[in-house]
Amino acid sequence: MDKKFKRTLVTTALPYANGPVHIGHLAGVYVPADIYTRYLRLKGEEVIMIGGSDEHGVPITIKAKAEGITPQDVVDRYHTIIKDSFEEFGISFDVYSRTTSQIHKETASEFFKILHEKGEFIEKESEQYYDEQANQFLADRYITGTCPHCKNEKAYGDQCEACGTSLNATDLINPKSAITGNVPVLRKTTHWYLPLDKHEQFLREWILDGHKEWKSNVYGQCKSWLDMGLQPRAVSRDLDWGVPVPVEGGEGKVLYVWFDAPIGYISNTKELLPDSWEKWWKDEDTRLLHFIGKDNIVFHCIVFPAMLKADGSYILPENVPANEFLNLEGDKISTSRNWAVWLHEYLKEFPDKQDVLRYVLTANAPETKDNDFTWKDFQARNNNELVAILGNFVNRAMVLTQKYFDGKVPACNELTQYDKDTIADFENVKAQVEHYLDQFRFRDALKEAMNLARIGNKYLADTEPWKVAKTDMNRVSTILNLSLQIVANLGIAFEPFLPFAAAKIRGFVNLDHSNWDELGNINLLEAGKELSKPELLFEKIEDSEIEAQIKKLEDTKKANELKEYQPAAVKEDTSFDDFMKMDIRVGTVLECSKVPKADKLLQFKIDDGMGGRTIVSGIAKYYKPEDLVGKQVCFIANFPPRKLKGIESQGMILSAEDADGRLVVISPSDLVKAGCSVG
Ligand code: MF3
Ligand code: ZN
Repeated sequence: MDKKFKRTLVTTALPYANGPVHIGHLAGVYVPADIYTRYLRLKGEEVIMIGGSDEHGVPITIKAKAEGITPQDVVDRYHTIIKDSFEEFGISFDVYSRTTSQIHKETASEFFKILHEKGEFIEKESEQYYDEQANQFLADRYITGTCPHCKNEKAYGDQCEACGTSLNATDLINPKSAITGNVPVLRKTTHWYLPLDKHEQFLREWILDGHKEWKSNVYGQCKSWLDMGLQPRAVSRDLDWGVPVPVEGGEGKVLYVWFDAPIGYISNTKELLPDSWEKWWKDEDTRLLHFIGKDNIVFHCIVFPAMLKADGSYILPENVPANEFLNLEGDKISTSRNWAVWLHEYLKEFPDKQDVLRYVLTANAPETKDNDFTWKDFQARNNNELVAILGNFVNRAMVLTQKYFDGKVPACNELTQYDKDTIADFENVKAQVEHYLDQFRFRDALKEAMNLARIGNKYLADTEPWKVAKTDMNRVSTILNLSLQIVANLGIAFEPFLPFAAAKIRGFVNLDHSNWDELGNINLLEAGKELSKPELLFEKIEDSEIEAQIKKLEDTKKANELKEYQPAAVKEDTSFDDFMKMDIRVGTVLECSKVPKADKLLQFKIDDGMGGRTIVSGIAKYYKPEDLVGKQVCFIANFPPRKLKGIESQGMILSAEDADGRLVVISPSDLVKAGCSVG
């Protein structure tokens, strides 16, 4: 499988334009793809990186409906936000386009037509829910009902979010249309299916025999799909948002979003290179790489390759380095629960700190398993690694040169054995970084690049030029020459990972290129070369900034809990007469104490205006007894007395139960006379 390719086509999953992008997107797909592409560019290889927004699909239409705007309005809004965020983070797409572009609609339409003409689809009739009032078929997401497994009443036609089971719309008990609230009816409809089963044998050989080198998470997922056996998949939908089905009988139907989206890679390449796009997609000398998250594996390793194979004129991906998921402070990132660090917000809250996030997300990338992003780790990596190692070394080398050599690169004189060992160490770094990058192991590659800064830091600490300066300026000259050579090397080594910092570093030493082949060269800077004035590369992040972020997440959590709380269903009808049977009164708490050996119970002495009574109530977890003394409470006065832990309780204190099960006693909003009745 060690084929030599002429060029590399890097694609990045097209994010849905129904919300902004967050750190999970960056860590899983765009930063690794960007590192890899920048690396190949530095090596002078022929490479392009394709991106764009995925602008079709049902969630976008639901969002539009909810906001009373058109789907096009929705995607216009988010496409802009997403594109800007990527640009600000230095994700160096050669093209970032969108699936509502004219060229995409034509390309996807044409793709479908060719497969249709070749007889690569099967047509099948099935029954789907239809809303007779709205006059339309209902996508699974547009149907809600009771989950047959956990009885959650708000399950969707494709999934129950309470128990996580994936469902068919017809599984739901009491299905309802999300558009009108009506009960939908089943209607016959015809769709086109891609018979994946027909391609199964080919896929088995191509992946399971041919691509054993794929990451084990990717290979494993493919294997389990293939072992389960592939079924035909519908590639059209009854919907009015998407690319219209371009063949007879396709009226009112569009291509399924997962059919048109990956074709977006092709459309966007066409947009970038109208005359030469075919060599990127149809020439065996092109190496196609899909950078994606793990939820996209089946589409990129099985469905899209089957589509490309069915056409017959396209190459297939050479590798699909999919990542696992990044969690946030221990919880799954979720757009609907607003549990995310949004890139457009980060950019405002941490201006000019794009590289810090790029660094942390790479150092902690979910390459082989899900990983957790925490703000504390973010702070620690910034302060202890970027500031204390990389920034500190570069700064010291620059400042010392300023001080002793007037800001000019001093000469390299005689090398000591220690110098030679240091040089040997750092010459090694290039091979190490390459070794890992070639295997898509970005965390390890970054660690190796960081080692270069460590080597420099240690070299300065060990040689102590500020002390040697008292006796031997010749030696200081050599030490600083070597240190500056390392600085210049950092300007190359970090270019794929931290492009902003790397450019700054090259600016400090006036290095006008970042040629990867020069990495490891200890003569990058000639003696006498003028340096620029350095600025701070990284700055410490204070506790207060981190606490503010943690507080923001805690607030989100609270808001979600309140939102998720579903009040209990209203009870059966009762009557005024029944209500009047209850004797509810206000009393004043005279005494209150814990009931021994009962951690839930409080014992009250209540002034009820009738000589007083004792009531035992199960609210000890929520109140300190002394806080209740003097308070007025409502109680039921005509329950027959009953014994609790040996104490006779003469009534029941009323309280409200909050979303989290906390009990809160009910009090009149103004003081009233003890014994007043409530009604
Ligand atoms: N929009 C999809 C997602 O966010 C990814 C689409 S990738 C493409 O999961 F191949 F379809 F473009
Ligand atoms: Zn359920």
